[in-house]
Amino acid sequence: MTLTSNEYAVTISDLVKKFGSFTAVDDVSLTVGRGEIFGFLGANGAGKSTTIRILCGILAPTSGSGTVAGMDIVRETEKIKTRIGYMSQRFSLYEDLTVTENIKFFGEVYGVYGERLAQRTAWILEMANLRERRDSLTGELAMGWKQRLALGCAMVHEPDILFLDEPTAGVDPASRRRFWELIYTVAEQGVTVFVTTHYMDEAEHCDRMALMHRGRIIALGTPAELKERYIAGTLLEVWAEPMMAALECLNSLPVVREVAMFGSALHVVVGSLEDVDSLRAALETMDIRIERIEPARPSLEDVFVALIEHAERGA
Ligand SMILES: Nc1ncnc2c1ncn2[C@@H]1O[C@H](COP(=O)(O)OP(=O)(O)O)[C@@H](O)[C@H]1O
Ligand SMILES: [Mg+2]
Repeated sequence: MTLTSNEYAVTISDLVKKFGSFTAVDDVSLTVGRGEIFGFLGANGAGKSTTIRILCGILAPTSGSGTVAGMDIVRETEKIKTRIGYMSQRFSLYEDLTVTENIKFFGEVYGVYGERLAQRTAWILEMANLRERRDSLTGELAMGWKQRLALGCAMVHEPDILFLDEPTAGVDPASRRRFWELIYTVAEQGVTVFVTTHYMDEAEHCDRMALMHRGRIIALGTPAELKERYIAGTLLEVWAEPMMAALECLNSLPVVREVAMFGSALHVVVGSLEDVDSLRAALETMDIRIERIEPARPSLEDVFVALIEHAERGA
């Protein structure tokens, strides 16, 4: 792959990270455009944080190469650190400092002092809607506020690229939505956002995304592309009782490509709507009561479930 690294905020080529004999990042290649919101999706242990740590220059790769803001992830880690903001999974705010004291602390770490620090502090308080809490102890803030403060601290030096590692983990849905609104605001100002999450629904917020599974990228694209490319066939929603028996029965049918539980229904991928009749017949033979079978529009979660099941079968 030959890339003009300046066109991209991030490039990664054949990246591998091993811990002993265990491969946490397995031959990952991707690019992130400037100003993009790029989502890194995957279950716990998929290798998201490890990849981010390599990009931030905290961890050296076992092999492979990459650039961040045009700089080499192996040889120019110190320069990279001045151009990026990093919000780690257990973001490192000082609980016994006030909101403004935390901002000042992180500002000084990044060489932001005096008038510029005052301006950046005002900007962060405004952005995160923390003005009225500026003198509160950080440890006393609710999780949603802490997350916004951590985002502000990661941006005190006006980085070009933000790496956010599960920034919305552990907060309520309203705070998660508010946090995503902040991410949009930041991206509109030209900042590239590389964000990891294990909440599948958050993928819809990203311009483009990669799905990581056991260290490998198993899908890459925009939400629309992923839905189009990977659900080949017809998605049905099936309500039937008992549900587990229905799942097993459908799983054994040759016309059924995928079955997954989706709330109180089963999501079933078949070749065409004409297959509904054979589904009904099979379920009735097994004495399973069918409430409803309806065509459904695939969500990204359907796509991810299908892809992960596919990857598991290949493994
Ligand atoms: N320093 C380390 N030493 C050994 N194994 C590690 C280390 N860091 C991460 N791992 C392992 O690598 C895998 C990927 O971890 P991680 O990148 O944190 O995944 P994610 O962020 O997607 O949950 C996990 O199985 C984890 O246990
Ligand atoms: Mg992680």
